[in-house]
Amino acid sequence: MLLSLLLTVGAASAFPQQRGGPGGHGGSGFGGHEGGQGQGGQVGAGFGPFQHPGPGDVRSPCPALNTLANYGLLPRSGKGITTENVTAAFAIGQNFAADTVTGAAAGALALCASETGENCTSWDLDMLDKPHAIEHDNSLSREDYNFGANNNTVFSPRIWGQVLRVWHGAPIIDFKLANAARLDRLNVANATDAPGWFVPAVAGGIHETAFYLSLFGDPIEGNARQDWIDVWFQQERMPFELGWTATQRQQITAAGLTAMSAKIEAAT
Ligand code: HEM
Repeated sequence: MLLSLLLTVGAASAFPQQRGGPGGHGGSGFGGHEGGQGQGGQVGAGFGPFQHPGPGDVRSPCPALNTLANYGLLPRSGKGITTENVTAAFAIGQNFAADTVTGAAAGALALCASETGENCTSWDLDMLDKPHAIEHDNSLSREDYNFGANNNTVFSPRIWGQVLRVWHGAPIIDFKLANAARLDRLNVANATDAPGWFVPAVAGGIHETAFYLSLFGDPIEGNARQDWIDVWFQQERMPFELGWTATQRQQITAAGLTAMSAKIEAAT
């Protein structure tokens, strides 16, 4: 059911997965866009101060969305997120063109509608934890849903450790290393998930790999800094103190991500 919704709205090209879950609704203010401080005292233009989520705030299985909420570029509550919020936050915070997120944002609206039975105009980050909807198995930094209730929104040192073992301390992650980590997670999840649960997420995993390589490396060549990637996945904050800035490189576009995805898949 949800799959057809996602296909209809075009989200399948961004996060092509399967079926359709819970989630409250609400809204709250933003934390500020005045040019706040990243951790370590570095200033990120457009960022509010970094803050961990507080009581009642919700987060998602997506490290990118969670990070933007932690700086107030998305509502810090994680609730009441609109497509306009998402396109503005990714443009300001990470130099992503609108066409990189509109498909997934439409998928989130469709997921909200299928969860609530309402015609949603906004959604909450925790709605994205519905397994096998936009969320998927073989994530790089989260347990698969089947390993315990509500753990697919939380960073897992155990799962991320698998990725780091594949990278073996390499300072720069090229297409081959990134693809090796993705394939390793596919194989391990396939071997260890409960019988009948695992659904391989191939296209989604490749696309998400292109996302992080573009964010922390070159949008064409990849070659992302491992220490920047590591801070982002583990702490859901931008590695300002290690020298990352949003404007250090050209804008990331949907066409660029598609081109990079093909290179990632071919790098074995
Ligand atoms: C409206 C926009 C977006 C939505 C609704 C969304 C949603 C999601 C969801 C539901 C997941 C979980 C997939 C899983 O089960 O592993 C995910 C993962 C991910 N997202 Fe997003 N996302 C959006 C935009 C972005 C952007 C712009 C980036 C760019 C950096 C990004 C980077 C990632 C990465 C790297 C993962 C993989 C996490 C992992 O494997 O542990 N996302 N996203």
